[in-house]
Amino acid sequence: MNATQEQLKLKLQQALVGAFGDEYVGVDPVLEPAKNPKFGDFQANVALSLSKQLGMQPRAIATAIVEKLDVSEICELPEIAGPGFINLKIKTSYLETQLNAIIKDERLGVPKTQNPQKEIVDFSSPNIAKEMHVGHLRSTIIGDCIARILEFRGHEVLRLNHVGDWGTQFGMLIAYLREVSPEALTTANALNIGDLVNFYRQAKQRFDNDENFQETARQEVVKLQAGAEDTLHAWKLLCEQSRKEFKVIYDLLDIKLEERGESFYNPYLPKVVEDLETAGLVEENQGAKCVFLEGFTNREGDPLPLIVQKTDGGYNYATTDLASVRYRIQEDQAKRIIYVTDVGQTNHFNQFFQAAEKANWIPEEVELIHVTFGLVLGEDGKKFKTRSGDTVRLKDLLDEAISRARKDIESRLEKDEREETEEFIKNVAEVVGLSAVKYADLSHNRTKDYVFSYDQMLALKGNTAPYMLYAYVRTQGISREGNIDFDNLGENAKVLLTEPTEFTLAKHLLQLDEVISEVEQELLPHRLCDYLYNLSDKFNKFYENCPVLKSEEPTKTSRLILCHLTARTLKLGLDLLGIKVLERM
Ligand code: ARG
Repeated sequence: MNATQEQLKLKLQQALVGAFGDEYVGVDPVLEPAKNPKFGDFQANVALSLSKQLGMQPRAIATAIVEKLDVSEICELPEIAGPGFINLKIKTSYLETQLNAIIKDERLGVPKTQNPQKEIVDFSSPNIAKEMHVGHLRSTIIGDCIARILEFRGHEVLRLNHVGDWGTQFGMLIAYLREVSPEALTTANALNIGDLVNFYRQAKQRFDNDENFQETARQEVVKLQAGAEDTLHAWKLLCEQSRKEFKVIYDLLDIKLEERGESFYNPYLPKVVEDLETAGLVEENQGAKCVFLEGFTNREGDPLPLIVQKTDGGYNYATTDLASVRYRIQEDQAKRIIYVTDVGQTNHFNQFFQAAEKANWIPEEVELIHVTFGLVLGEDGKKFKTRSGDTVRLKDLLDEAISRARKDIESRLEKDEREETEEFIKNVAEVVGLSAVKYADLSHNRTKDYVFSYDQMLALKGNTAPYMLYAYVRTQGISREGNIDFDNLGENAKVLLTEPTEFTLAKHLLQLDEVISEVEQELLPHRLCDYLYNLSDKFNKFYENCPVLKSEEPTKTSRLILCHLTARTLKLGLDLLGIKVLERM
């Protein structure tokens, strides 16, 4: 609900009390956006629902409310329609005043939150030496967007990369590293083993085929856990190498993240199990320490425990998450912790959330949220794979998007006989390609699977990044064509609305704060995408119907302001999605 709607609701509530007495304090006036713009902007349906209670005809109730209703600053005279709807139409002068106010506001009318708090977004979080796959790409894009929105609202956000940098797989990797690249462990040089993913595959093959090697690997795990220096050194080299590979992706996508991997919580693991035991939550099951929780069963319907310490004494993913949630609450003082992973991990999160609750580790005011997302599908509707059936490497995926965007700009240049520098072409290709991938991900409801299609995401029409970027470019084109400095339209420049497409655009521009607070609450970035898509659409309709540079003053300046406000809103909105704009493309 935006500020205007909020105000109207309050006024209606006052009118209700004015008409029927204190008994009606706090009654919901059932204010909704009008179904049909013909009837105005909002309608209040409360008269219908009170009919029985008051023993009156709804129309009579509506009349009594309207008599006490003072909304003259915001609305035209209220009208009663049908069985007893109260229709409200926003005054032009009110819209103009609102718009004229946000011209001067850097935040375009979006207030900072009244309750700034420390929030953690745990996202991306790939695993060392394993592939960073499309699932991590989704987590990265969605998590970054959520973090940006929370930051913009004025929260203190800690962006955490909970990388999988610990676990038994390191025994195998280190043992293999000793075999194939012993010099790496004795020299100060960086590791030179090429692609870590390949290295992982080879190590795994070695592991699966040789029992002696398995034993060596097991000993390396023990050494690693005991903190043996040479083993730790090898571990660090492997992490370093992975980090370099991840950084390529983060740099391309412009992602800021603080790495705090699983290994960070190592020292806290024994205490987690100990405290769970003290709380009486642990049961031994075939030598493993388990927490049994309500509502979790396996396929056979047997209780599914959360294992916090394995039979061999080792800790696991869940133990680490329990340690990290405590750390984040106690040390980081987080009030909201948001975990962005695929929906497949739902059980894991629900289980450890519940275990932490039961152990009384989660104070009342702290909220834990698992932000889930669906799978990335190929155009065949199956899990996204390369043609040969391998998982797609992220670097390749992004490069492909850029190269396709490049082909597109090149062919447009050729067609229009336009000449541009290599630098220009490269930049356009990169921004368009990467935005297309991000936008395609964010514009779908994250809880569902989505189909990855280069053709679709790079299309110039539809709910795509290029469409949005074009709308922005168009606004900038107007300023270039008319030689106009949008930031300097004069002290007295004002919006004056006359045409229907101007009204539609104006109202939409004023809804930004509502959308952003919705996304902040529900953590659904596609809402912001929808908003921006509609904005581009409404702007284009306005632009088709209303001459800007060719119109007379004061209309011309007013329309220039609408262009400028659209541009600023698009730029801000896209920035919150992690997407850069282009002045020309
Ligand atoms: N490394 C995990 C994976 O690749 C994701 C970690 C998510 N964060 C967390 N605190 N569990 O699936």
